[in-house]
Amino acid sequence: MPGSRALGAAAIAVVGALLLLRPEDAGPGAGLSMAETQALPKLREDFRMQNKSVFILGASGETGKVLLKELLEQNLFSRVTLIGRRKLTFEEEAYKNVNQEVVDFEKLDDYASAFQGHDVGFCCLGTTRAKAGAEGFVRVDRDYVLKSAELAKTGGCKHFNLLSSRGADRASKFLYLQVKGETEARVEELKFDRYSVFRPGVLLCDRQESRPGEWLARKFFSSLPNSWASGLSVPVVTVVRAMLNNMVRPGSTEMEVLENKAIQALGKADISLK
Ligand SMILES: NC(=O)c1ccc[n+]([C@@H]2O[C@H](COP(=O)([O-])OP(=O)(O)OC[C@H]3O[C@@H](n4cnc5c(N)ncnc54)[C@H](OP(=O)(O)O)[C@@H]3O)[C@@H](O)[C@H]2O)c1
Ligand SMILES: *[C@@H]1O[C@H](CO)[C@@H](O)[C@H](O)[C@H]1NC(C)=O
Repeated sequence: MPGSRALGAAAIAVVGALLLLRPEDAGPGAGLSMAETQALPKLREDFRMQNKSVFILGASGETGKVLLKELLEQNLFSRVTLIGRRKLTFEEEAYKNVNQEVVDFEKLDDYASAFQGHDVGFCCLGTTRAKAGAEGFVRVDRDYVLKSAELAKTGGCKHFNLLSSRGADRASKFLYLQVKGETEARVEELKFDRYSVFRPGVLLCDRQESRPGEWLARKFFSSLPNSWASGLSVPVVTVVRAMLNNMVRPGSTEMEVLENKAIQALGKADISLK
């Protein structure tokens, strides 16, 4: 039967994902107080007044594109630059001042200027083994990310935000989690003034391209009781709002790690106040 193999593979992917699930620490950002929630609009306004510059890596991806949309809507930056391997086209008026730097990630040193002069950086780059093979995956999710972070640091970036994954662990036996953990740790060595790492569970979005494993996972999570699903998965828009809410609030000089639950709390913090 056509598709049954894909479905079988998807089922294995979901079961595999579930086996990886361990209880998580809530970490910083979990359970925002009322006072902290109410402070967000003012924090946003203060942030806007600083006329900061931002770059986004991976703005064509599911998370990156929602991040771009949301930070334009919130009008948080004076200058927005996308760094990517291809030029993107936007129809909407809101995007007309967005700058784009098209780079060759295999020769990033030649594009150091693209990374110059941004206060804040977001990295939402990533590929999969299915798309790029094991070697290709490491090349993108580790090497491209590290090189970009290095150039950003040299270029004056003060706050680097990395989209990683739940379960990231440099000692993991799973290539995916190992690469995510190693990348997190090696970016930390660059000593940004502020460094925030986001470790969402399964990202819930409406992806154009077909990824049967993710599709099945989405069906699966939407069938779970809310409290359970919210520990294991998270809507992309919540991740993005958590990134931005985290950014406007006072930071730590230590690496900030936001696990899935903290992302849920921070990303949904002031929806009712908006
Ligand atoms: N999906 C999940 O459930 C999940 C869960 C936890 C963490 N994550 C992590 O979250 C991150 C973002 O995920 P996503 O689903 O938003 O990503 P996505 O939709 O697959 O987008 C990936 C981005 O990376 C770029 N990219 C991929 N391969 C590239 C290459 N060889 N050279 C240059 N750019 C390349 C893509 O650019 P093009 O448009 O040009 O291809 C795109 O902008 C990934 O690191 C992923 O591992 C995902
Ligand atoms: C930010 O830009 C506005 C308008 O261009 C200007 O009035 C203000 O002084 C700037 N603020 C800083 C901190 O540079």
